Amino acid sequence: RIYPVIISGGAGSRLWPLSRDLHPKPFIRLPDGTSLIGRTYARAAALPGVERIFTVTNRELLFLTSDIYAERGGPSPENAFLLEPFGRDTAAAVALAANHAAETLGADAVLLVLPSDHLIRDEAAFAAAVERAAELAADGRIVTFGIRPERPETGYGYIEADGEEVRRFIEKPDKKRAAEYVASGNTYWNSGMFCFSAGTMLKAMETHCRDILAGVRAALQAARRLEADGRTVIEVDAKEFEAVPAISIDYAVMEKVDNAACVPVDCGWSDVGSWAAISELVEADASGNRLTGEALIEASRNCFVHSEDRLVGLVGVSDLLVVDTPDALLVAHKDKAQEVKRLYNRLKEGK
Ligand code: GDD
Ligand code: MG
Repeated sequence: RIYPVIISGGAGSRLWPLSRDLHPKPFIRLPDGTSLIGRTYARAAALPGVERIFTVTNRELLFLTSDIYAERGGPSPENAFLLEPFGRDTAAAVALAANHAAETLGADAVLLVLPSDHLIRDEAAFAAAVERAAELAADGRIVTFGIRPERPETGYGYIEADGEEVRRFIEKPDKKRAAEYVASGNTYWNSGMFCFSAGTMLKAMETHCRDILAGVRAALQAARRLEADGRTVIEVDAKEFEAVPAISIDYAVMEKVDNAACVPVDCGWSDVGSWAAISELVEADASGNRLTGEALIEASRNCFVHSEDRLVGLVGVSDLLVVDTPDALLVAHKDKAQEVKRLYNRLKEGK
């Protein structure tokens, strides 16, 4: 038996102007009308033996999230929501889930952490990898899912592996090191999904990030709990949660543990992290242009246009990302899609 834990909360700064704090990346409507979080939920619910799904998210996103879950239709698993007053990054989110699961299900409960901002095309391959991961997790391992790297991406974690054994976990290396890892052949991208028993994760956190664990426990102790309509909602205490250090699970735990394992998986995974990645979800025309919304295009190649209610015209340009929303227009070179977060950060800092 396995308990999926969907984590959602990051801002998705590379998807500005569409991704705002209260409309983060997992909720963006994809070209086919679905959303990444809706697909994540459906994928989790379809795994064999899933009777309860945990979701750790911002309290402002509860209703939006449950509405999207309800769109799946059919009988759904029990839902338990752990609500954060503000983000404290993924180590805290995972600590919340692990503590709650250990309390309610016992330390042996096997959890499967699923980021809400990914796309997986081959669900059968994913399910097979989860089955293997659950076996390793029952054996006291913290399991990662390794993706064959395609390019020296600096936005991912890297797993140096020897079969299923993890030799080293390196979160977001610089370009040079990333290129070395890709060339080395025995290194995987970290997909950001993890599988472990609640007790194993709590033990690792006790050793490597005690302060996070202590803060999260205090915030859970003082939490408000609500049970209604077969759904549990736990709102963690803001005052206690405020003191929890904001670090990702990758830095706080994965780089440090010696019981990590890696299940390689080829499931059409993509962290739809930038407009360049979103554009690939849209079919290209003969000139390589991809459109969602209305656009008139002349003598242009390999452009992506997302337009919400205005007509966009392009003449004689190539490799551009154009994203038009009612209050902001983004024009960026495709090669610089990762840099869009700089605009987001400047706006956030008011410069
Ligand atoms: N509940 C909650 N609270 N969720 C959060 C928070 C938070 O404070 N911060 C981030 N999340 C969620 C995001 O919504 C996303 O679904 C997931 O946690 C991962 O966070 P990201 O911020 O998207 O991480 P990343 O993409 O930079 O890096 C991670 O994923 C990569 C693969 O996509 C790492 O695990 C990398 O090692 C990995 O390669
Ligand atoms: Mg991500």
